[in-house]
Amino acid sequence: MIWVVGARGMLGQEVVRRLDELGLQHVDSDVECDITQIRAVVSFADAAFRPGHFPRWVINCAAYTAVDQAESDEETAYRVNAQGPANLAAWCRDSGASLIHISTDYVFDGTASHPYVELATPNPLSAYGRTKVAGERLVQEALSRHIIVRTAWLYGTHGRNFVFTMLKLMQEGSPIRVVDDQRGSPTYAAHLAAALCEFVRRECNAYGIYHFTNSGETTWYGFAVEIHRSAADAELLGCACDIRPISSEEYRTRARRPGYSVLSTEKIQRELGLGIPTWQRGLEDFFAKMRQERETT
Ligand SMILES: NC(=O)c1ccc[n+]([C@@H]2O[C@H](COP(=O)([O-])OP(=O)(O)OC[C@H]3O[C@@H](n4cnc5c(N)ncnc54)[C@H](OP(=O)(O)O)[C@@H]3O)[C@@H](O)[C@H]2O)c1
Repeated sequence: MIWVVGARGMLGQEVVRRLDELGLQHVDSDVECDITQIRAVVSFADAAFRPGHFPRWVINCAAYTAVDQAESDEETAYRVNAQGPANLAAWCRDSGASLIHISTDYVFDGTASHPYVELATPNPLSAYGRTKVAGERLVQEALSRHIIVRTAWLYGTHGRNFVFTMLKLMQEGSPIRVVDDQRGSPTYAAHLAAALCEFVRRECNAYGIYHFTNSGETTWYGFAVEIHRSAADAELLGCACDIRPISSEEYRTRARRPGYSVLSTEKIQRELGLGIPTWQRGLEDFFAKMRQERETT
């Protein structure tokens, strides 16, 4: 049995879909089990699991992900991104479960010039990043049976994300200005979900921190250009589009973001024997799914 927390979020829905494909039984929760309250976690679990039938794994996809909003609301972000995972880790410790917790490339300051390995020292630039680092540390302190997977530039077929924002602007036909001096690896949530579920399927006990993103790297501008090309190939977009590169200076946001946040995925590839699809392949799979969903509705 697996407990998926944050199951209605962008990643959570992909994890649920993957577990179904693998035929693995799961119980799902989202905001009805408020992870910031240990009593809510315990009472949800008491109602969902019979004694002796506790889940072997908890996968925590719940988070406060509004990166800019967190600058003025760090307290709430901390409760969800740090206290919440700490509560889940405490519950796992008492119940014999292992915890898979998701973190982010924004724990790093982006000053590196080669992909960040798991042992690199976090130095977040934003409130969101600080709360995610705190979450990682509290999980590590509370529970040895943890797998923390840092990912980056996540998008999927559910929920708001960069791909949907770009598609909307492209459909409107307005000129689009996109930041071209931040480098990272766009990651399709379904590919990340498949990797997370692989830990579960293999009953992996190689606990610790891992990095998972689609392979390769680009800038937000490069990503936007590829979104346009892929959407046109998938016949989801007809029009030409004026997409131009700009600098972060020209596109000020409340939260500072790392200039370079490419993550090394060698460790997870070694551990799970995975071949990781490129970020361009991620987009192709995303648009194939979108097309399939459009044809069936
Ligand atoms: N999105 C990215 O680009 C990105 C990049 C790197 C890492 N990550 C990490 O990847 C993970 C998944 O992100 P995502 O984009 O799938 O997030 P998401 O779509 O925002 O989903 C998070 C889910 O958690 C729920 N939630 C919020 N507060 C909660 C609480 N107190 N108790 C229980 N559930 C709560 C949310 O409900 P509401 O929507 O109702 O608040 C939502 O359903 C997160 O750990 C995130 O930090 C994301």
